[in-house]
Amino acid sequence: MHLRVFLKLESIPRLLLPYILDRGESFGSIPSSVGDGGRKLVVDFSSPNITSEFQGKHLRSTIIGAFVARLYEDKGWDVTRMTYLGDWGKPIALLYVGWGRFGSEDAYQADPVGHLLDVYHKIGEAFQPEQAATKEVRDKAVKEGRDEAEVQLEMESLESQGIFAERNEAFKKLEEGDEALVAFWKKVRDAVIADYQRFYDRLGIRFDEYSGESEVKSETMHEVEQILKDKRLSEESAGAWMVDMTKLGARAGHAIIRDRGGSSTYLLRDLAAVLERSRKYSFDKMIYVVASDNNIHFNQMLKILEAVDQDLAKKLQHVKFNDASKMAATLGKGYKPEAILDRCEEAMSSLPEVDTDKAAVVGNSDIVVKGLGTSALLLQELSTRSASAHAFDTKTLPSFKLGSGPDLQYWYTKLATLLADHTATAALSDEDFEVLADDDHANMLRILAQYPEVVNATFHSLEPSGIVTYLASVTEQLADCLNEEEGEISVTPGLAALLEATRIVLRNGMKLLGLVPIPDLPQERADTPVAG
Ligand code: ARG
Repeated sequence: MHLRVFLKLESIPRLLLPYILDRGESFGSIPSSVGDGGRKLVVDFSSPNITSEFQGKHLRSTIIGAFVARLYEDKGWDVTRMTYLGDWGKPIALLYVGWGRFGSEDAYQADPVGHLLDVYHKIGEAFQPEQAATKEVRDKAVKEGRDEAEVQLEMESLESQGIFAERNEAFKKLEEGDEALVAFWKKVRDAVIADYQRFYDRLGIRFDEYSGESEVKSETMHEVEQILKDKRLSEESAGAWMVDMTKLGARAGHAIIRDRGGSSTYLLRDLAAVLERSRKYSFDKMIYVVASDNNIHFNQMLKILEAVDQDLAKKLQHVKFNDASKMAATLGKGYKPEAILDRCEEAMSSLPEVDTDKAAVVGNSDIVVKGLGTSALLLQELSTRSASAHAFDTKTLPSFKLGSGPDLQYWYTKLATLLADHTATAALSDEDFEVLADDDHANMLRILAQYPEVVNATFHSLEPSGIVTYLASVTEQLADCLNEEEGEISVTPGLAALLEATRIVLRNGMKLLGLVPIPDLPQERADTPVAG
């Protein structure tokens, strides 16, 4: 329900200013004692795969996922942040085979993750012709409509040689708990996690749990398989266990639970993980922030779960986004996640050329440049709608355009400077309130008053771009308010109160997006003049 209230211009500041100033940091959020207070949310996000590069889709999931977590927290939910690493399966076994050929302990000591990626690419190249050969056989068989069992045999014979055989053998050993393989796997996992952690730290993101495909217990997987068998949902076919999705209302498809080699699949692990998490966290809701290349997987998983436990299935939500990204091409082979942030920070060096005055206001100390780099990246990510391709583009990052990270930081810093010598209060004289009754100021307050509604709408759409557009309109109106006082801006008590309310909204919005306002950064900002 919407209540439209028409107010006389003069009454707006008298009502809204104290309302916003009193609430301060909590303006726009809900105390945990009311509303959804105390309900439990698990967010599964970021979730990279430990043998390969941190892809664009993982960056996007990291940023959107952290946003969703903060949004729910603002609504009073009790949020568990979890990343589900792709840390099990044949790629690790392939890396092990690669390590045997190309691995060097010295190179590893010097740069663990860089060397592992290098080894993975080398073995990948060597493996490529074999993979192409099996793909050709399969494609041809499908075209010719050959007998499935016959094709299976041919595939098996191809996979019983070369790197295929070595990889499958290694994976089998890993699953059986072979000491050397498990030690190798653990070494890789630990090195990669340490590397991710540095990256997440720089972005200001923390996880309550580094879970992963490897951590799903085999008992839970057996439990899921038993339920599926009992409910006659799964069947055996050519040695594999699968669910005929047409029986669950899908138009086509088979979902493989256990492959013909007896290994558990991504699907079985994820299904079992739902049970484990539900027991561990008793969540009211679980959100997966995962790219749309996982759509089939999540559709199958949700359909199967619905057939098994409807109440549990209802608690799950897949928040998807376009998986296309040019990030890998921009960064080149073998990059580590921190390189993403390094490139963004480097790009900030051209900010003074873009706008000398604004660049001088934000400053250029190391810590400020780092803050600007992440702000620019976050805003580029969060202003892109989920259905659009990933926007990663370091060329357009150094910008003060409306709604960009650097521009939000500029306006916030400017407000902090203007308010440095003023204590804002809403206990104003009639005269002070009169100053605020003109159009620009009254409109500013109207916009500020919309903030809780904007947050609310975003909570339902989970599209961060709504908040970005809104914050851009706040800075646009702020520019109008300040411009009107030509030259030196005189901060009257009335204006101070309005600017303070603006600062509150900007800060709350920026924090929701994951930005640390520059004046709040840990170190003093250096006052070196900006060149150019
Ligand atoms: N590692 C997967 C990928 O890179 C994403 C995992 C998402 N989470 C999950 N529970 N399936 O596509």
